[in-house]
Amino acid sequence: MAISKENTRPIDMQRINNASIAQKFIDEQVSLLKRQIGSGKVILALSGGVDSSVTAALLLKAVGSNLTCIHVNHGLLRKNEPEQVIKVFKEELGADLIYVDATDRFLDKLKNVSEPETKRKIIGKEFIDIFDEEARKLASDGSYKFLAQGTIYPDILESDGVKAHHNVGGLPEGVKFELVEPVKFLYKDEVRVVGKALGLPDNMVYRQPFPGPGLGVRCTGAITRDRLNALREADAILREEIAKLNPTPWQYFITVPDIKSTGIKDGKRIMGWAAVIRCVDTVDAVTATVPEIPFNLLKHITERITKEVEGINRVLYDLSPKPIATIEWE
Ligand code: XMP
Repeated sequence: MAISKENTRPIDMQRINNASIAQKFIDEQVSLLKRQIGSGKVILALSGGVDSSVTAALLLKAVGSNLTCIHVNHGLLRKNEPEQVIKVFKEELGADLIYVDATDRFLDKLKNVSEPETKRKIIGKEFIDIFDEEARKLASDGSYKFLAQGTIYPDILESDGVKAHHNVGGLPEGVKFELVEPVKFLYKDEVRVVGKALGLPDNMVYRQPFPGPGLGVRCTGAITRDRLNALREADAILREEIAKLNPTPWQYFITVPDIKSTGIKDGKRIMGWAAVIRCVDTVDAVTATVPEIPFNLLKHITERITKEVEGINRVLYDLSPKPIATIEWE
């Protein structure tokens, strides 16, 4: 299906590859957003990913307190992620931010669920339900007319230009949002250049891809809180250590499968989980290779994880390319 004209990137649009072009884009978008929104109010689901963060930062410049961001923590975020979103947007940029800690709600729904696609569906549905509930509360008096989204150009290309937003369909009758999508013509690298020019921190701007279902797909099988916590801590150590490499792999993270093996601690036999290090290099995530990580660094990471993380007694390096293995374990 053809992409509609309003969703087609103008052919004469300059590639945003430096700070001055980014600044020009920011100035233009801010004035366009002011014109579109006027004194209206806008809601945005802020995940902390680069696309929604750049969208939020642009809107803050344009409409300030008329923007309300909703950050839903599904309990499957990486260590310190919600704290960082709150620090950057609420404390530093002064955004009106509603933080919903829905950890219990998600983990209760996911209890004893081991089938990967069922887990994904539960996480996706719950996320939409919570966003809808919050948006509904805000929109009940009709003052919020706009819904902002961090749609980027590959999203449009990949969905043939019909990116109907799930959140809109779920809202009550009579509540209709007009979409606001200031970065919809940008490619990922351009979003990063704009994010940098907006002053967002590097670990937000250069964030590696992170699946929507978050750590849920890396805590394989039925998720338990203790294994999820071990995964989150081990992942934070891995990211801290791998970040010392230059260049860093395209994506790097820990998976903790639902398997225990024998170990020894203080002269006693203990059963523990294995933390699997996954590092991949790729261009488009369709195929991927496994980079060589210095052996000394792998040994250091193993030592840190097994010492610092309760419940983990083994560390493995996943050597499997894609294909045959996918990047995520589930
Ligand atoms: P796979 O595992 O399919 O991953 O080789 C390819 C890329 O996609 C990411 N990924 C996901 N992203 N929701 C997402 O938003 C998902 O359910 C999901 N599963 C995998 C993965 O991290 C990798 O970058």
